[in-house]
Amino acid sequence: MRFATKSATRGCLCRGWAVRAGIMSKVLLKGLKKIYDNKVTAVHDVNLEIEDKEFIVLVGPSGCGKSTTLRMVAGLEEISEGELYIDGKLCNDIAPKDRDIAMVFQNYALYPHMTVYQNMAFALKLKKRPKAEIEKKVQEVAQILDITQYLDRKPKALSGGQRQRVAIGRAMVRDPKVFLMDEPLSNLDAKLRNQMRAEIIKLRQRINTTFMYVTHDQTEAMTLGDRIVIMKDGYVNQIGSPVEVFNKPVNLFVAGFIGMPVMNFFDNCRLLLENGVYYAEIRGVRFQLDEFQQKALQQNGQKPCEIIAGIRPQHISVGKGELSALIEVSEMLGTEVNLHTRSNNDEVVMVIPTVDLQTDVSMGKTINFTTQPRLIQLFDKTSGNNLIWFDDKSAAADAPVCKQYNF
Ligand SMILES: Nc1ncnc2c1ncn2[C@@H]1O[C@H](COP(=O)(O)OP(=O)(O)OP(=O)(O)O)[C@@H](O)[C@H]1O
Ligand SMILES: [Mg+2]
Repeated sequence: MRFATKSATRGCLCRGWAVRAGIMSKVLLKGLKKIYDNKVTAVHDVNLEIEDKEFIVLVGPSGCGKSTTLRMVAGLEEISEGELYIDGKLCNDIAPKDRDIAMVFQNYALYPHMTVYQNMAFALKLKKRPKAEIEKKVQEVAQILDITQYLDRKPKALSGGQRQRVAIGRAMVRDPKVFLMDEPLSNLDAKLRNQMRAEIIKLRQRINTTFMYVTHDQTEAMTLGDRIVIMKDGYVNQIGSPVEVFNKPVNLFVAGFIGMPVMNFFDNCRLLLENGVYYAEIRGVRFQLDEFQQKALQQNGQKPCEIIAGIRPQHISVGKGELSALIEVSEMLGTEVNLHTRSNNDEVVMVIPTVDLQTDVSMGKTINFTTQPRLIQLFDKTSGNNLIWFDDKSAAADAPVCKQYNF
């Protein structure tokens, strides 16, 4: 059984409402499994230790078990196997209302006949909190979310983003130990989504609570998460900081899922070993691997093998190198140019900074390209695991063989 923890502490911006002195909100998922009545195993053996005040994002394609995992933490779905602890307390059999958590859903439904104030006050009223306390709490939260001026309005008189903020506010007034959010931005348009994403980052600094956030959007995951949990088919494939999962993807799936544009994959390549030195051979061109790659491969006793080589579009440079490609589409974006090229039978996408660009990158041109060997990701052709970054202790060791890299 493996756990991933985050020991680093973050700067704590405790102010006003946000002060939760002495309240810890650690969440531990220990071998969590969900088998639905129809015998579908939606979640297999999730092990995750979420630190107090940490922002964890669960990300993965549709159906991979993100919502199921979150709903087990919320208590909305029974846990089939494993244990859930909140602050060291076993919560498997504790009712949702007694777990001290709040959840915001994608399809949040505000009460249409109530004002924003009444919507936000509702949960506290049910709890029979004193009127003065409710008033104080709603006003404080409204201020944080910048919706004070809408407190007397009905939801139908609000924009999508404002309604979303009310939905978040409704959860915030309960002052939860853990904030669970299931795709809270997915029904907003692209511009509003970006705005709300920034709002959530600010909010998170202010309210200083543990977050579990579900999305299928990797940009959202990368920008919001302290750590990201990448899931596929009910299995956790990797848990790490945004930088870790970007630079050290443990398998083909993670490599292809994280990063925009998607990593280029070259199948039928080879890892060579000559006179104790490792090379990656990509389309007949040899790259002598960097020192750290040599060491890692040596330590693993890696034998020469067939590999799939991965190169990120941002890690390609043009105008030199032995590989060549025909530019089919050239998209000038100002600071960079996106090139969609064909190199023999491979489609290769390149993101090239324009600042020192000397090469003609117009459509129809043939260019040479290369990369730095240390930036080449080496995947075992059979298992799909990264020869450098996968290890038996990583979360992905539980996941089945990962050959998939076309999405
Ligand atoms: N109530 C249910 N009964 C049976 N199977 C279910 C039930 N709810 C979900 N599933 C199945 O469990 C798997 C995981 O579903 P889940 O809703 O957790 O996925 P998700 O990652 O949240 O996907 P999405 O991004 O589409 O919301 C899917 O195969 C789904 O069909
Ligand atoms: Mg879902």
